[in-house]
Amino acid sequence: MENNLPVNIREYQELAKKALSKMHYDYINGGAEDEHTLRDNIAAYGRILLRPRVLVDVSNIDMSTSLLGYNMPSPIIVAPTGSHNSKPRREVATAKAAASCNSLMVLSFSSNCRIEEVAASCDAIRFYQLYVFKKRAVSATLVRRAESNGFKAIVLTVDNPMLGRRERDIRNKMVAPAKPNLEGLISLENLDTTDGSQLVKYVRDTMDPSLSWKDVEWLKSITSLPILLKGILTAEDARKAVEAGVAGVIVSNHGGRQLDYAPATISVLEEVVKAVAGAVPVLVDGGIRRGTDVLKALALGARGVMVGRPVMYGLAARGEAGAKHVIEMLNRELELAMALCGCRSLAEITRDRVQTEGDRIR
Ligand code: FNR
Repeated sequence: MENNLPVNIREYQELAKKALSKMHYDYINGGAEDEHTLRDNIAAYGRILLRPRVLVDVSNIDMSTSLLGYNMPSPIIVAPTGSHNSKPRREVATAKAAASCNSLMVLSFSSNCRIEEVAASCDAIRFYQLYVFKKRAVSATLVRRAESNGFKAIVLTVDNPMLGRRERDIRNKMVAPAKPNLEGLISLENLDTTDGSQLVKYVRDTMDPSLSWKDVEWLKSITSLPILLKGILTAEDARKAVEAGVAGVIVSNHGGRQLDYAPATISVLEEVVKAVAGAVPVLVDGGIRRGTDVLKALALGARGVMVGRPVMYGLAARGEAGAKHVIEMLNRELELAMALCGCRSLAEITRDRVQTEGDRIR
């Protein structure tokens, strides 16, 4: 296999399918209900075309950017995804893969590795993703642990007051992965499969459906770290997020795993970017499988993009080396897409480099 490495994310997905049990593959790959949003996250990129400019000297391409003052060699960030299952190193393998590409990683609240273990594994800039539990003290403790372990920002996921109905997990009677970060903080007993997936009961028992803007205030009151809100899909909420004083907005529908028939993220990115009006950086995730997708997102105003499943496919297929290869591949694809579009820097990826469906109607 080492001489015959996958050449794109789709091939990594095929390898991941072979490497994982059906339950785990479905957990990673599935979405909510009819999986319309899951499919459309990807399909919507296909409806956006590129407008290349030629006869530009593209012998030097600079993909570097910054986020919250941290320099990044490329705008591609590792999204927070729960329960990495490459053995033995799980999120440590992902963290090392990201660090070796100097890519920012957002560690999931539902990590299979302890926060401390990930932090100690390698030096890198990392953010920590938080869910708000009914027991606020649990979330507060995890914020403190993220702070003391050098994480630089909190990504508060706000699209998960209840678990989306993931029918593949229900059908497979999904077994909830261990939650080592919650040991000693909360008892997760009796996760029966009455509702099919154990995740249904886990989320119902722990996460707080009363989550509201007041909790953003609460989070600000317990940490001095910058806070990004993940799961914003409308101009209205984007404006409220800025008013609430967050440091960044992430346009996300949780990879189509929460509200089915929520819009494809790339189709609402521009609306959010306009509403935010430059006050804070806007990131987007969902459906990014190609460097050209990254270019499209940047042209529509994203400061950076996060990728979820592709990194998990790489990890499942080839462990740390696979996750690293996925990040490198996306970086190389972005570099090539920029060159062929005549963009020498991210600043040159302007709105006129893309043609959306809306542009074609006008
Ligand atoms: C996720 N996502 C997610 N988001 C989050 O805030 N906390 C989490 O623990 C998880 N866990 C998780 C597990 C798995 C298996 C997946 C696929 C996704 C959502 C994730 O951060 C991101 O929004 C999407 O994965 C982006 O879509 P793509 O890149 O997977 O298409």
